[in-house]
Amino acid sequence: MGAFTRPLPVPAVLRPTSTEGGVDRYEIRQTVGSQEFLPDTPTEIWGYDGTFPGPTIEARRGRPVVVTHRNELSVPTVVHLHGGVVPPEMDGYPVDYLAPAADPALAAHARHGVAGMAVGSRDYTYANDQAAATLWYHDHRMEFTGPQVYMGLAGFYLVRDDVEDTLPLPGGERDIPLMIADRQVDEDGSLFYPWADPTRRTPGVTVEYHHSGMLASTITVNGVAWPFLEVDAALYRLRLLNAANAHVCQLELDPPPPGGNGFVQIGSDVGLLPTPVAYDTFVISPGERYDVLVDFSRYRPGARVVLRNSISEGDAGYVMRFDVTRRAADDAHIPAALTAAPPPPPRTEGSADRRFSFFIGPEGVRGPAMTNGQTFDPTRIDATPVLGSTEIWDFTADPIHPVHLHGAHFRILERNGRPPQPHDGGWKDTVFVPTGAMRLAVTFTGHRGRYVFHCHNLEHEDAGMMANLEIQ
Ligand code: C2O
Ligand code: CU
Repeated sequence: MGAFTRPLPVPAVLRPTSTEGGVDRYEIRQTVGSQEFLPDTPTEIWGYDGTFPGPTIEARRGRPVVVTHRNELSVPTVVHLHGGVVPPEMDGYPVDYLAPAADPALAAHARHGVAGMAVGSRDYTYANDQAAATLWYHDHRMEFTGPQVYMGLAGFYLVRDDVEDTLPLPGGERDIPLMIADRQVDEDGSLFYPWADPTRRTPGVTVEYHHSGMLASTITVNGVAWPFLEVDAALYRLRLLNAANAHVCQLELDPPPPGGNGFVQIGSDVGLLPTPVAYDTFVISPGERYDVLVDFSRYRPGARVVLRNSISEGDAGYVMRFDVTRRAADDAHIPAALTAAPPPPPRTEGSADRRFSFFIGPEGVRGPAMTNGQTFDPTRIDATPVLGSTEIWDFTADPIHPVHLHGAHFRILERNGRPPQPHDGGWKDTVFVPTGAMRLAVTFTGHRGRYVFHCHNLEHEDAGMMANLEIQ
């Protein structure tokens, strides 16, 4: 598999075209690019600025960002800021298309949108009125999110704030975003995707992939298969994102540091935890982020530490390797406490309780992908929570589904009727629902209006496992 032969790339931080008036303005071209997932094998991708991952946007809490996206591809696109607190018309509702300049013929679809359709380019405005967190932006085109993210339309969006700045956390080259995604590169260098329609005009995957979603055995990090990273024997911050279409990972360090507890989690999907939590392994499903510290000074210089994916066998069981090079000065340390913000009560008086089941049917059968027995319909509203409230939401899944909410963040209250696990803490926007049940406290604080929630197995999402919530 040629593992651990190439250094980990870190996506470039995008430079604003203007910072006038306290607003950071950016421009991104959605365009064809070339990427070496595998050594000496150029692969055509679709990327933000032609790269995968796209450029990283670094935002500051309270300081607005405007991103002008230009669609130079051959298909409509939609940009979603995953984890962002944004009004509905900036959220990337699945039919709020940005049509390529060359092809304005899609206007008929715009009637079900929130923002309507744009042609050629459009601005997305983000207020960044939210705590420091690792967000990401990616494509969200109705019924085509799977192939379009798989082709490379995904990038990091980091929010920083003053609370985080007061903490002795690793920074600079020791604060590293890691986008994990599996890909299958064919002999001719092209990306394999299991289109049911070879002309790629109608959505959907072949029946073998209907149930699992797109799974591949080549694991890439920041766009390179099985890279290595030379690290000092010091504390590092790793912002782990599972950007795979469908691959659930269970991560562990091999070998673990002496005494174990190699991962010290400091942040969940959308912010810092109250206090750090240490453990040896955790499951990260598509869409989720884990912000963890790893203290490589617990290893001897010369140690080679493999990030393993212990849920998969064979090549997909390996993610990347950290090569501990030398002892080095280190001002960072693991803080005893992170954020002081008290959480709201887990349920607002008089609020609704809601239940949603996520079901895709048995393997080998192309059934519909359903939420509460229904496939997605942009015109049907499935939940009407009230702005400012916190509701109890119960999810059941068959078989397993990572579920993501737009327009709201939540906490995990129960996992299969039991207390949450150590890695379930903090504010989240995506939860891995194993076969069984999860109980969440969902807080609606951002904006009124219509948003989607859906399975983040992108093939399930495209097949209709998505629903609407309309915040009143
Ligand atoms: Cu990461 Cu609705 O998506
Ligand atoms: Cu699913």
